[in-house]
Amino acid sequence: MTGGRELVMVSNRLPVDRVVASDGSTSWRTSPGGLVTAVAPIVEQLGCLWVGWVGAADEQLEPFEIGSMRLAPVELSEDDIELYYEGFSNGTLWPLYHDVIARPDFHRVWWDRYRRVNQRFAERVAEQAARGAIVWVHDYQLQLVPAMLRELRPDLTIAFFLHIPFPPSRLFAQLPWRKSVVEGLLGADVIGFQQVTDAVAFRMTAERFTRVPALGNTIVVPGTADHPSRTVLAQEFPISIDAAAFAEVAARPEIQQRAREIRAELGNPKTVMLGVDRLDYTKGIRHRLKAFDELLGDGEIDPADIVFVQVASPSRERVDAYRQLRDEVELTVGRINGEHGSIGHAPLVYLHRGHTRDEMVALYLAADVLLVTPLRDGMNLVAKEYVACRADEQGVLVLSEFAGAADELRDALLVNPHDIEGLKAAIVRAAHMPREEQRRRMRSLRRTVYDNDVAHWATGYLGAVRAAAESQRPSQTG
Ligand code: ADP
Ligand code: F6P
Repeated sequence: MTGGRELVMVSNRLPVDRVVASDGSTSWRTSPGGLVTAVAPIVEQLGCLWVGWVGAADEQLEPFEIGSMRLAPVELSEDDIELYYEGFSNGTLWPLYHDVIARPDFHRVWWDRYRRVNQRFAERVAEQAARGAIVWVHDYQLQLVPAMLRELRPDLTIAFFLHIPFPPSRLFAQLPWRKSVVEGLLGADVIGFQQVTDAVAFRMTAERFTRVPALGNTIVVPGTADHPSRTVLAQEFPISIDAAAFAEVAARPEIQQRAREIRAELGNPKTVMLGVDRLDYTKGIRHRLKAFDELLGDGEIDPADIVFVQVASPSRERVDAYRQLRDEVELTVGRINGEHGSIGHAPLVYLHRGHTRDEMVALYLAADVLLVTPLRDGMNLVAKEYVACRADEQGVLVLSEFAGAADELRDALLVNPHDIEGLKAAIVRAAHMPREEQRRRMRSLRRTVYDNDVAHWATGYLGAVRAAAESQRPSQTG
């Protein structure tokens, strides 16, 4: 798929985080988030060099190998984590790119550190990558790397993929360093986005702030005295999951047994409803809890009939907006159970921790309804995972129209999470949906997820990267 060239992945986090236990022993754990879920199965097959951070401060580690991957750690200090990762990446870009749900903060020291850390990543790749390699840079934390890397290593083919939304031009315009970010991205040969709207927004933004015109999906970057003119493909490539791998886990008898146990542990209610998210304010967890609370309060659902399990994996815990969210969610969970629970029965189960893939799949099998209600989400892979696991063609997906996945999963119950009445109606409808309607919808959803799995995505995206490499630098392909 990479045409015999070496593949180099570059992301803020390596696919594994280094965990240091209280006794000082260390181990590796899969990193959180959709990036790794989507990309890991591709690179396990292709093999790659992966450049990224190990998830802890001041770790100086030599490159090491896991399976077919060679991992080259980039060191981040406490200050880098505070200014580049928690600051500019997650205090400025993340809220700005998610429709300013939280207020983005603009600080020059954060930006300065973002530039310096991006430069460090570019230098690490430049020193490690083989001649003519394909370098695939991921996500909003590393938007300056493509141009920095092109400067250092013009022999490389550079691809970039944005896993989160790209904001409309009028919001992006707030960023004091908007031109530099666009120029950073334009260092790539191919820029992939989750949705058509993201790709369109980027092309318009590039034209507005750097005056480079787009012809369809292609942006023409004019030449300078030192560099010839070049083209950049900026197009949508909606990401997906390894559907067959999820289905394989879901088919295992012990996982199905575990799903039955989970239901039994919950008291075998008529309806098990599930939410699975990183604990992030973009995910609409507060809206979901409000709807559930009101339905219990109005008597529209009986707490004896339903249990709502909210799995929330810890995320970015030192960033203010995330701290506040956690406090608020945990307060609300306590209040709902206090008001509507009884001895021996809590209508809401809240689990603030990561789970293994096996346990996640058992939860998907145990759930009659999955609530995916982000206020904004690049894609949302949890929605696709649930569908991939439901070979029984049962279960109802309630899906926000503001998740990228809603472009494809049209047979879900689509909701506007801001419309609490609409959300409540969808929950009631999902809880009472006849089996035949569940089957019809789930069958269609499954077809979509299987036809557009991660292999399909990788073929399209890497195919475009290779084509760009061949057409732009034919003399280096031999
Ligand atoms: P994001 O990238 O914003 O976190 P996605 O829904 O696209 O959102 O991807 C989340 C990924 O993380 C999914 O593969 C999901 O299974 C996984 N995940 C989410 N919460 C947990 C958890 N508590 N334990 C284990 N995996 C989780
Ligand atoms: O796709 C969104 C994303 O931010 C990824 O870039 C990242 O790996 C994942 O979510 C988890 O976030 P973090 O690395 O900040 O814990």
